[in-house]
Amino acid sequence: MSMSFSGQVALVTGAAAGIGRATALAFAAQGLKVAVADLDELGGEACVAEIRAAGGEALFIGCDVTRDEQVRGMIERVLSCYGRLDYAFNNAGIEIEQGRLAEGSEAEFDAIMSVNVKGVWLCMKYQLPVMLAQGGGAIVNTASVAGLGAAPKMSIYAASKHAVIGLTKSAAIEYAKKGIRVNAVCPAVIDTDMFRRAYEADPRKAEFAAAMHPVGRVGKVEEVAAAVMYLCCDGAAFTTGHALTVDGGATAI
Ligand SMILES: NC(=O)c1ccc[n+]([C@@H]2O[C@H](COP(=O)([O-])OP(=O)(O)OC[C@H]3O[C@@H](n4cnc5c(N)ncnc54)[C@H](O)[C@@H]3O)[C@@H](O)[C@H]2O)c1
Repeated sequence: MSMSFSGQVALVTGAAAGIGRATALAFAAQGLKVAVADLDELGGEACVAEIRAAGGEALFIGCDVTRDEQVRGMIERVLSCYGRLDYAFNNAGIEIEQGRLAEGSEAEFDAIMSVNVKGVWLCMKYQLPVMLAQGGGAIVNTASVAGLGAAPKMSIYAASKHAVIGLTKSAAIEYAKKGIRVNAVCPAVIDTDMFRRAYEADPRKAEFAAAMHPVGRVGKVEEVAAAVMYLCCDGAAFTTGHALTVDGGATAI
């Protein structure tokens, strides 16, 4: 399978930590120039430093994906620094456990929808015209297994990730004949800092999380990054509008 990305340009949002950081490192390891975007400047600059230390090329762009003018500015910065945008991984997202549906607050609803849905929509809104003008590109959005089914006590999060898949499929069809592919990844529980903070305090929760996956463990950030790389590469040229699970079999049960 061809994974020839050399000299191309990728943008990753939420790249200061977790899945986004691992994917930024994976793009850079394949020879791409990487725009590392995040709210978190410290984490973002650390990711850029790691890429540069390994001989790669990267720049940090501070951006709140919920703000139209900041997202527009982020894309303008990518173009002014690197001249093009071949791949975008719209991954910035937040997860809040709200309790049962009736216990959630309006503020939680607005915060989750704003980052997870509006953020992905705004990113694609400004990426698609650039890719259209270039004659092609590939976009991957981070959904979740919570975008494919129920997520008890996280109904707003589940709604937001279902919406990401709706945006992904609609954009994929709209741009299918224009050389732009749009797909989503749907991770189950992935071993990130957030996961460790939540579960290290309670080993029973960690065991329960591992047992949710038929493979008997939670996922690794590199395993999500590998799925994103696949969806971007030429080998996936016939794959668009797809929501790819990275879930150790969890949704196959
Ligand atoms: N970790 C999991 O188990 C898991 C499972 C399924 C889906 N996901 C999804 O994967 C994505 C990444 O999650 P993660 O686990 O790596 O989380 P993380 O918290 O480690 O990283 C998320 C990054 O997004 C950034 N961010 C948050 N709001 C932002 C905003 N408004 N603008 C720009 N950046 C912002 C944060 O600063 C952080 O660096 C999210 O969309 C999440 O919903 C995670």
